[in-house]
Amino acid sequence: MVMTLALMAAMPEELAALLAQLDSPTVHHHAGRAFHAGRLEGQDVVLVLSRIGKVAAATTATLLIERFKARAIVFTGVAGGLHPQARVGDIVIARELLQHDLDVSPLFPRHEVPLTGRSRFPTDAELSDGLQAAAAEALAVERLALAASLEALGVSQPRLHEGLIVSGDRFVATAAESQALRHELPDALAVEMEGAALAQVCHDCDVPYAVIRSISDRADDAAHGDFLRYLAEVAAPMAAAILRCWLRR
Ligand code: ADE
Repeated sequence: MVMTLALMAAMPEELAALLAQLDSPTVHHHAGRAFHAGRLEGQDVVLVLSRIGKVAAATTATLLIERFKARAIVFTGVAGGLHPQARVGDIVIARELLQHDLDVSPLFPRHEVPLTGRSRFPTDAELSDGLQAAAAEALAVERLALAASLEALGVSQPRLHEGLIVSGDRFVATAAESQALRHELPDALAVEMEGAALAQVCHDCDVPYAVIRSISDRADDAAHGDFLRYLAEVAAPMAAAILRCWLRR
């Protein structure tokens, strides 16, 4: 079987634009998921909607590795901004991922994945560097194409960040909860619900992986409304532009 590059997202909006651009698509159904194999920018890829949450992401990643022989996996989607600098419209490239809701203390330190000896899982440097360069290039173009939508969301200059993204099985939608996460993990840039699960599976299977997210909300009391508006208007074209640029490079 041809070794394939896999692109995953949790929400249909995040994958829609890429699916529309897939050449010679064939669909394979496993475990309630549709795996879309084809070519994008001349590369063999498989696109799949993981669905939401850590278990859904872990199941999907395992299938990608075992059934589709994925040689690398990239997760794209949106996240809630935690760090004061991570504002709606910004892009975050994960350099490390951690499960903020994992707590097996006092048997193991808080956040540590038992029997791995680690709580932070580093992403693949080469993939992440490539995504960062592609994001910088695509942002310059998409910033103009999406100017009206970004302005309506109060975004002037989307910026690029890299660092820690935290994941948990919770949509963080109160200022109190995001403040607690900031207090506990001051270097966390953003919160989402899948990345660290992908990291754990890829770590176990020795498959390179990366996570790129755009900030849809500030994980505060307004998160729900901001999330839905951003997802519909900005996330999909932004993700597609960055990933196509990355595949071209
Ligand atoms: N994905 C996007 N926004 C999020 C939030 N506020 N909490 C968890 N996952 C998210």
